[in-house]
Amino acid sequence: MSINWFPGHMAKARRQIEESLKKVDVVIEILDARIPYASKNPMLDHVIGEKPRVVVLNKKDMASKQETDRWINHLKAKGVYPIALNGKEQNALKKIENTVVEATQEIFDRMARKGINPRAIRAMIVGIPNVGKSTIINNIAKRKVAKTGNTPGVTKAQQWIKAGSKMELLDTPGVLWPKFEDESIGQKLSLTGAIKDNVVTLDDIAIFALKFMQQHHLDELKTFYNINIDADTEIVDIFDAIGTARGFKMSGNEIDYERVTERVIYDTRNAKIGQFTFDLAEDVE
Ligand code: G4P
Repeated sequence: MSINWFPGHMAKARRQIEESLKKVDVVIEILDARIPYASKNPMLDHVIGEKPRVVVLNKKDMASKQETDRWINHLKAKGVYPIALNGKEQNALKKIENTVVEATQEIFDRMARKGINPRAIRAMIVGIPNVGKSTIINNIAKRKVAKTGNTPGVTKAQQWIKAGSKMELLDTPGVLWPKFEDESIGQKLSLTGAIKDNVVTLDDIAIFALKFMQQHHLDELKTFYNINIDADTEIVDIFDAIGTARGFKMSGNEIDYERVTERVIYDTRNAKIGQFTFDLAEDVE
């Protein structure tokens, strides 16, 4: 399921997140490590303001390690506390906890100086749909919380849940809208599964993926499909090469382009061809 984000939904989501923000010491923003730029809600910086922020580059297992390191450096320079994570991994809690403690150190030092008793660090998780918010909450709070990914904003009856010994989390994440102003951002969001396929045509997503790999990961592309192409091969010839290599043919020996398209999207989305990052930190810098 996906959300159709109407202006009313966005205003409501924003308002609810602003309300929740008042209750927390730190925000944990979840991004998809493959698209740290495209998976960011365009309003979030404004909404969060000066509140300490941990930025999780989630699904790191599917992203380029080298590029994730670059993004970490880029984010550190912006004054937030970034970590790369596989939200399903055992050590997710420790990693988030350590970073949350670091991000809120100043607040708690100040409280200690005023003689206020230490309490758990209060945090909330926010992000666009499908970046892994529920997975992370379930993992670090060691319980099954309802899947809320399809509700804009946050639901009303929120509760605190313990995550480790130092942290309390709001049990429902803040769900914000993705960027949709730019075609290539839409293609990246579709390619990684953050938005529904029917928003962008499948052909466009597959063409985008193939061009990206032809430009940045030619060897992996050639090896995976066992095709002979180079940096200048026309895109239609790449479709033909994959169709031929995989035997995706229709009657009359015509290439079945629909099957090639679906295959390329599936293989790219699930990091079968390689671990790629589609937003380059250097482009943002
Ligand atoms: P959301 O709450 O932000 O909407 O996202 P959710 O946790 O539902 O995660 C969306 C999909 O991403 C899920 O897959 C989830 O398993 C997967 N996922 C989350 N974190 C990671 C990660 O670090 N690495 C990888 N590889 N996948 C991750 P799904 O196919 O929708 O469901 P399922 O296969 O888990 O049943």
